[in-house]
Amino acid sequence: MQTFPGERLEVLLAHSEIKHRVESIGKRITMDYDGKALLLVGILKGSFVFMADLVRSIDLPVAVDFMAMSSYGAATKSSGVVRILKDLDHGVDGRHVVIVEDIVDTGLTLNYIYGHMRSRGAASVKICSLLDKPSRRQVAVPLHYKGFEIPDEFVVGYGLDVDERYRNLPDVCRLVQE
Ligand code: PRP
Repeated sequence: MQTFPGERLEVLLAHSEIKHRVESIGKRITMDYDGKALLLVGILKGSFVFMADLVRSIDLPVAVDFMAMSSYGAATKSSGVVRILKDLDHGVDGRHVVIVEDIVDTGLTLNYIYGHMRSRGAASVKICSLLDKPSRRQVAVPLHYKGFEIPDEFVVGYGLDVDERYRNLPDVCRLVQE
């Protein structure tokens, strides 16, 4: 892919590896939620690619909704400020909710959403994140379904961006500034 001037990409997780892992998470969710009203809640925007693949790996009737939160803005460091920019279209009463994220970094975003969702009457709430950067954690959040642990490096692709670039990369790549 063409890169922005001064930027280089190095593949960290190839698409084939991601695909395999997403399918295995989908199978586990299929087993865990058999017979239950499952609602996947994607956190925009980064989760949209993961969500699209994950939902097709789940062999159950499943509803999908999205929330948008603010956290990083255009910078690469967390501001620690989390607020709802777009809320769910429908209530979660009696639903078994799985929150779908692309990455957990400080944990501030998920910590807020997890608490918020549990106060809204869901039958259960679990968290599924493709990527986990444990070295950056500021608040503990339970990761019930996890794709990969990654080191503290800035990554893009498969939904993740820098200033809205590279979300369409099929791989997860390190972004190297030259
Ligand atoms: C990213 C990611 C999570 C959050 C994780 O979103 O998708 O929502 O940051 O960070 P935290 O654990 O430190 O809270 P971002 O704000 O970059 O927005 P985007 O998904 O629209 O790219």
